[in-house]
Amino acid sequence: TEASLFDKAKDTIEFLKSRLPSPLLAPRVAIVCGSGLGGLADTVHSSPKAEYDYSDIPHFPQLTVTGHSGKLVFGLLAGKVPAVLMVGRAHFYEGHSIDQVTFPIRVFKLMGIETIFLTNAAGGLNPEYAVGDIVVLNDHIFLAGLAGIHPLRGPNEPEFGVRFPALSDAYDLELRCSVHNAWKSKASETSRRLHEGVYAFVGGPSYETRAECRMLHLLGADVVGMSTVPEIVVARHCGIRVAALSLVTNKAVLSPVPRGDDSFLHTRDADELGAIMTEGKANHEEVIEAGRAAAFDMQMLVQAVVLNMWAA
Ligand code: ADE
Repeated sequence: TEASLFDKAKDTIEFLKSRLPSPLLAPRVAIVCGSGLGGLADTVHSSPKAEYDYSDIPHFPQLTVTGHSGKLVFGLLAGKVPAVLMVGRAHFYEGHSIDQVTFPIRVFKLMGIETIFLTNAAGGLNPEYAVGDIVVLNDHIFLAGLAGIHPLRGPNEPEFGVRFPALSDAYDLELRCSVHNAWKSKASETSRRLHEGVYAFVGGPSYETRAECRMLHLLGADVVGMSTVPEIVVARHCGIRVAALSLVTNKAVLSPVPRGDDSFLHTRDADELGAIMTEGKANHEEVIEAGRAAAFDMQMLVQAVVLNMWAA
């Protein structure tokens, strides 16, 4: 029979413990860096520091998307707080099982991690949001999870948590307050806006149609993305506190496609119709580029929260 996730995570811990220098063995916090948001790892000073490619770590999922590398970095964040950072994450759309996608969270649990920050690039559904805005998540909509594509499906592993975990308090209020406070103290340095909002998980890899965007917005979602929620579910199952931040890298198109009726079609040329269909169309390069431009502020925000909490 297949080894339990607990046993696999123990293998991984054994691998890491046998290699990590002792000052890095007990990180206070884990940070999962989303697409284009791995710059935080550069604030980890070179000594002590240890890096492992996902391909070298037992049971870690391999990444396949351009713009995503994959390494686990241990060190002192801003030279002060012992941390472990995931630079790049595995996504469900790559073909990994939902168990593989969330496996690193279970490893963090066995390392003694009590707090995780997750960052991601997301599409903005809330019409108030602009590209480059940052959203502190306060809830999620997990359509796949509701339908049974869920990381806790299968025999419960009691070493991690209970059979029926609550998620009504998943997005830690104290951590969210810390994010807002850290942002307030930096407000003068940026014109960027910080919101609180609801994240809808989609499987991807295609971006949403206009009708799907309208549906998700109607259901109460403010941003949409292809990551983070499975990890949050697994983290909450095992009692880890989580905070999650989305960077709005594109605005989802909420306007319906024009109907091809007489009055519409006969009065417009092909260029005009092409322009209507291209407006706001999502693409991966745009997501990566908006990430680069705004990544700095987002990284400073996470760093400020971590320093406020642990570097006193
Ligand atoms: N990641 C970035 N933008 C996205 C979008 N529009 N939909 C899903 N995931 C995204």
